[in-house]
Amino acid sequence: MYRFSTLSALAAAALLGATGAQKVQRAGVNIAGFDFGMTIDGNFTQSQMQPPLKSQGGPDGIGQMQHFAKDDGLNIFRLPVAWQNLVNYDLGGSLDTNNVGIYDQLVQGCLGTGALCIIDIHNYARWYQGIVGQSGVTTQDLSSLWSQLASKYRSKSNIVFGLMNEPHDLDINEWATTVQACVTAIRQAGATSQIILLPGLDFTAVGGFASVSGPALVGVHNLDGSKTNLVFDVHQYLDSDNSGTHTECTHNGVNSLQELSVWLQSNSRMALLSETGGGNTASCETDVCAELDWMNYHNGVYLGWVAWAAGSFESGVFSGDRYELDLVPEYANGKWTDKPLMSTCVVGKFH
Ligand SMILES: *[C@@H]1O[C@H](CO)[C@@H](O)[C@H](O)[C@H]1NC(C)=O
Repeated sequence: MYRFSTLSALAAAALLGATGAQKVQRAGVNIAGFDFGMTIDGNFTQSQMQPPLKSQGGPDGIGQMQHFAKDDGLNIFRLPVAWQNLVNYDLGGSLDTNNVGIYDQLVQGCLGTGALCIIDIHNYARWYQGIVGQSGVTTQDLSSLWSQLASKYRSKSNIVFGLMNEPHDLDINEWATTVQACVTAIRQAGATSQIILLPGLDFTAVGGFASVSGPALVGVHNLDGSKTNLVFDVHQYLDSDNSGTHTECTHNGVNSLQELSVWLQSNSRMALLSETGGGNTASCETDVCAELDWMNYHNGVYLGWVAWAAGSFESGVFSGDRYELDLVPEYANGKWTDKPLMSTCVVGKFH
């Protein structure tokens, strides 16, 4: 989609302080559904879960990913799932063979596209109201989950371990201790080189990450002390209250990305924007496209973006009224058609 001449692109890149090529390495979308029924305080109602799997009577999340990869060139997908589901409500217990087997259908479908596949534990750092490592739920409960998942997927180089979706209202220094324990558990289980995503507080918002979460998490390290493939996990929405619940966008988020990029650069680290998005509206096409454009010019510190969301957002608890941030592609007559925001920005800015 870039229409610049080489010279003007280089000039623009120099002005913006960009490094390397003109686009990020990774772009994709969340394939939601295994997380439906989860609340921000970690409550989970399994009956509301809506696996994006035809085998479970749900939407064809695997077909969606195949379309996004083959027709759109996307190369990263995030697969949210409830912690309770993977261990069948047994906190600190073993993976549930049946439930993990069903989730693994989605994981294998993703791996089959050749993309990076993020396992996202979508629990807001909580198991019901208990905060991991801080009240009622131990760090060991979570590191045990990650040890088992890492053991299962250690031979798959395209698996990314997304430690936790959107922590909030917790002590960031204690949280950093929990994050370190999970990284250690994953590496000790033999997943020695895959990317691990490190989330911070305030729902891991881009804004403010450089001043609070970043400094607390910057020391998290691999077994040998290196920070290789430990990538910060950040989210950003562009509506009036930054919540991602409105169809109209009011800002493009570039100021926050800029602030974080300076910090990343000075620490020689990278971040992934694993949730962003907006409605299929003119205001969001303007702002989301501007946000992603900016990331392309700062691909030295931003690995890429993963939009929110496709998967099951036209079924289950979200059937009937259209979901505000719906990026589910429509399938008809042997052909997939993308939502406007998807084709214009999420895909359009990756070309
Ligand atoms: C989670 O469950 C607790 C206990 O039943 C309840 O008090 C709380 O309101 C629930 N939270 C949400 C967001 O539904």
